[in-house]
Formats: sequence, structure tokens, C-alpha cells
Amino acid sequence: MRIYDVIDDKRRNRELSKEQIAFWINGVTDGSIADYQSAALLMAIAINGMTDDETFYLTDAMAKSGDTVDLSRFGDRTVDKHSTGGVGDSTSFIVIPVMAALGKICAKMSGRGLGHTGGTLDKLEAIDGVSTSLSEERFNAQLDSAGLAIAGQTGQVCPADKILYALRDVTATVESIPLIAASVMSKKLAAGAKNIVLDVKCGKGAFMRDKESAKKLAELMVRVGRKAGRNVSALITDMDEPLSDYIGNSLEVEGAVEVLKGRTDCRLYEVAKALCIRLLDCEGAEQAVDGAIASGAALGKFRQLLVSQGASADVLEKPICRSACKIEVFSDKAGYVAGIDAMKIARVVLDLGGGRTKKDDKILPHVGIKLNVRRGDKVNEDDCVAIMYFEKYEDVALAREVLAAIEISDEKPQIRKPVLGIIK
Ligand code: URA
Repeated sequence: MRIYDVIDDKRRNRELSKEQIAFWINGVTDGSIADYQSAALLMAIAINGMTDDETFYLTDAMAKSGDTVDLSRFGDRTVDKHSTGGVGDSTSFIVIPVMAALGKICAKMSGRGLGHTGGTLDKLEAIDGVSTSLSEERFNAQLDSAGLAIAGQTGQVCPADKILYALRDVTATVESIPLIAASVMSKKLAAGAKNIVLDVKCGKGAFMRDKESAKKLAELMVRVGRKAGRNVSALITDMDEPLSDYIGNSLEVEGAVEVLKGRTDCRLYEVAKALCIRLLDCEGAEQAVDGAIASGAALGKFRQLLVSQGASADVLEKPICRSACKIEVFSDKAGYVAGIDAMKIARVVLDLGGGRTKKDDKILPHVGIKLNVRRGDKVNEDDCVAIMYFEKYEDVALAREVLAAIEISDEKPQIRKPVLGIIK
């Protein structure tokens, strides 16, 4: 077989076989296929698309290109979740402890934030003492003793995806639905869980701007996961505005802890609960999730996770955000909050130093924004609508950008539910 012919077939919009796709991915992994050939093939895929079979073969080959996690000793109890990336999205810190409190096994391999979206590892490491670099032995021992762990990738998981993602990033081929589906699902398959829920975000602060593309991506990922023998379902959720009132690494952990301590009247809980219900997929799921929060069992599981990964025993009794400076942001007019632009809010957090623009940038874990208002709230002139936490005095000026992200209008807007669709 020659890679030239594989590229030529795809350019002419012919369906690639399982063998052709495996040949490409093996060549990417062992370095025998040149980057310029993969780049040409990626562009042909981005233009001509892929059938479901092709997407599945690509996902499967990438999942098998490196190490895979073996969770078979836990049978069908294993669960995992994935979010396509949003702003103020700390649902993992609710879903994972709730699931563990209900007897499930949650082996979560997460990533770091890049660009405007936050990363679960950065948020966890914002907590004093917590480490997310667990050896394979420690990761497995923690699953056996506590039933939950959140860590960076152990070993070499999906090396072919790493190489192809870097090529897509510089060849304008990131935004191809089959390529995104194969990239996300290959990592989920390699991570080993039997039950998987996907949170596909759509809106201003998301990868997918419109609901139609989010739905297409979600449906394709669900079909690919099922073809691989996993129980997969998905939610499509709103990311026009931040999911929680807390945006920034340590602040987002505080937002999740507030929910685990019983605050359930918020969008963050609404989405986390819907994700848990999809994972449980049984009668009485909603009551079980509410019960795990109300009894304190989920909070106890989160504490167990943090302490196992290095935090002190009283970690949840102390403030998690330890920013040196804060400034209140006051509304300059009266009216109703018509919207809070997730992308603008995320950019402020990035500019404060809470995110990275390059892979190796250092972040400031305690900067961020706490919103005091939600869409639909009535505000008076001079009401404090947000608090901005910062570390460098020159960043005080960014408070103006926070205010600019909060749109005030004379009309009361319609309140939207955060869960826009369910694919089961
Ligand atoms: N996240 C991934 O892991 N892969 C993509 O292609 C896009 C988002």
C-alpha cells in the first residue's frame, strides 16, 4: 500500500477502507509517513468528509496507537465524562464525586486549559498540595481504594492523535466534524470506561457556535462510541454565557464545592445533574443524584479525591481562592441583564493570567471573576455586578472589560435552559 494512493482516493471522494486508515495511522505513529502527506490527507478529509465507517476506523486506529487503560476488573461500573470545552464549566468536580458516591468507578484523564477554555488539571492543581501527575500504579491504587481519580494522561495515550492534532492546528483542519469526533472519541476509548457521557457545548464561548453543528458532532460521537461497544450518550448545552458564576481556576473549584455543599438552584448543578442522569440511565436517577448531594456523600467523595491526591484533610473548610487583590465592578446603568458574553469573560481571565496562549505558559491559579448577576436579573445603577480577582496592579483596568461583557437592556430577556438537547 502507498500513502499517495490513500490521499488520492480521499481527494477523489472515495471511501477509505479499514486497512487504508490503519496503514495511515500506523505510519503516523512510527514516523514512516511524512507530515506533509498527513496534512494533505487531513485537508482532503476536511473538504470531503468521512462516512461513519471511516470515522469509526480512524477513531479505533488512533485509540490503539498507544497505551490504553484496562478497567475490566470493575465490570460495567466504570463511567467517564467529556466536555468539548467551555467557560466556568466545573461539572467534572460534581459529576465524578456524585458518581463515586453512587458506587461507580471514575477514572478521569483530563487535560490543561489552552486559549479561552479552562482545563480540569489546572483547576485541581490550584488547590494547595494537589497533584495530578499520578503514576499508573498510584492511579490504579486510588481507583481500588476510593473509586475516583482525576489525573493527566499516564503513559503515551493516543500518540497518533497528538501528532495529527498539531498538524490540524496549523493547516486549518481543526474544524472538521469527523476529525474532531475521532480525536475526542479515540481518547475516551483509550481511557477504558464502559459508560461515557459527552457534553457538547454550543454558543459564543464554545468550539461549536451553532446548535446544528453541535448536534451533528454529538450524534456522530455517540454512533462511533456505540460501534466500539461503549454506552455513550450526549448533551448539547448552552455556552453563550458562562456555565457558573465562578470563572478562573481556583474560583471554579469553589463554585463546584458550593454545589456539593447543597446549592442546587444554579445552571452548574442543572447541567451536572443532567450528565449524571445520562450516566446512570435508570429509573430514580434524579432522586439518586439529589440524594448524593443532600446526604453529603458526594462532598465526602470529593474530599477523599483531594486528600488522596495531596490536599490537607480540612481542604474544604478553607477558602480555595487565595487571590491577593480584588475589585468590585459596578453597573453603570439600570435595567435587566440581557446576556453575559462567555467569550469576553474568558478573555479577561486569560488576560489576568488565568489561562495560557502557549502550551508551556505558567498560569496564575487564583485570578478570575465572580459574577453576582445572571441573565434576566434586574440591576440598579451602581449595583455590584461582579468581583474581579487579580494579581498585577496594571490589570485593574480589565474591570472595564468585565462590565462590557455584561449586557444591560430595558427589556427583560427570556430565560433559557442550559440543556439544549439530549442524544440517547
Ligand atoms: N478536542 C479534542 O480533543 N480534539 C479535537 O479535535 C477538538 C477538541
